[in-house]
Amino acid sequence: MEQRSRLFETVTVGGQQLRNRMVLPPLTRSRASDDGVPTALMAEYYRQRAGAGMVISEGTVITPQASAYARVPGIYSAEQVAGWLPVVEAAGRDGAVVYAQLWHVGRQSHSSVQPDGLPPKAPSAIPITGYQYRSAHGRIPYETPRELTTAEIVQAYGIAAANSAAAGFDGVELHAANGYLIDQFLNDGSNRRTDHYGGPLENRMRFLLEVITEIARYLPMERIGVRLSPSSDWMDAHDTDKRTLYSTVVRTLNGMGVAYLHLVEPEIAGSTTVDRPAGFIPTAEFAALFDGPVIVTGGHSQASAEQLLASGTADLVGFGRLFIANPDLPNRFLANAPLQPLRPAGIYGGGPEGYTDYPALAASGT
Ligand code: PHB
Repeated sequence: MEQRSRLFETVTVGGQQLRNRMVLPPLTRSRASDDGVPTALMAEYYRQRAGAGMVISEGTVITPQASAYARVPGIYSAEQVAGWLPVVEAAGRDGAVVYAQLWHVGRQSHSSVQPDGLPPKAPSAIPITGYQYRSAHGRIPYETPRELTTAEIVQAYGIAAANSAAAGFDGVELHAANGYLIDQFLNDGSNRRTDHYGGPLENRMRFLLEVITEIARYLPMERIGVRLSPSSDWMDAHDTDKRTLYSTVVRTLNGMGVAYLHLVEPEIAGSTTVDRPAGFIPTAEFAALFDGPVIVTGGHSQASAEQLLASGTADLVGFGRLFIANPDLPNRFLANAPLQPLRPAGIYGGGPEGYTDYPALAASGT
């Protein structure tokens, strides 16, 4: 007997009904201008993938200091907001709900891309070890960051959220995963602050909660989603007790009425699939603590996604690499059509090759 598909059932997120439960998750593609202004090529890329029920933008930096890499889009200048308008319009033209992922990389940046040429700022002056920075001239060690003051950055998140609304986004997702700035505050391995943003878990969560509160001055709480990677130690994201850390974060978010919780699967290290880390915590444990919509992303197939939905672990599923190579992924799932493989060329940067040149299924001559 054919099993009923849950991927193509509707679901409500932030008071908006989605046509299906497939999410284009945030994917860094590095096709903005040198000033972080979204391009016509980006509009074409998002238009091609507009069949998702929900589109989340690639990581979009909230200030010039928030970036690690060239050609990542921003959302702090008027030119960037103007550049986003046609991109958001293209992404939402078939009815997808479109969120902006707000990004600050903290210590994952480098002096070579900082406006003042100095090492990046982070919660504490602790460098990333065991990984190398992807510089314009190859891999180089990370630097010891400078300790930041929080107020200015909290404000920048609010401005970025207001700009997102002005650009037509339905909501925002806070990137609090993968060892970036917010995650650097959460994990005790990267946060040794002695002020009220460091020390006990209650203090390490303060930055995240202040950012949410600031954004909620501009957007309804139900339009603010949060992305976490509770089992990942990618980019030296270490904590002495990740289970307590992230279950407390999820319980706290649950009480706030945010739009959704977006969980990265344990076998994802940044952008690749690896062996599940020893002592990984099943995604279902965190999902069970959250009453609102849960998005789960990381290496899923159509079949495993259906299982995630059927088991109640997820309400929506993100498909990153499958959506890069198959812009019309929902149609292919519906038609049981073959999937195109991901080509390594053009994942980060360049032009249309490996970006907008993956064809959709040929129209069926009817
Ligand atoms: C990447 O550029 O490879 C990347 C960006 C953001 C992430 C993970 C990976 O959260």
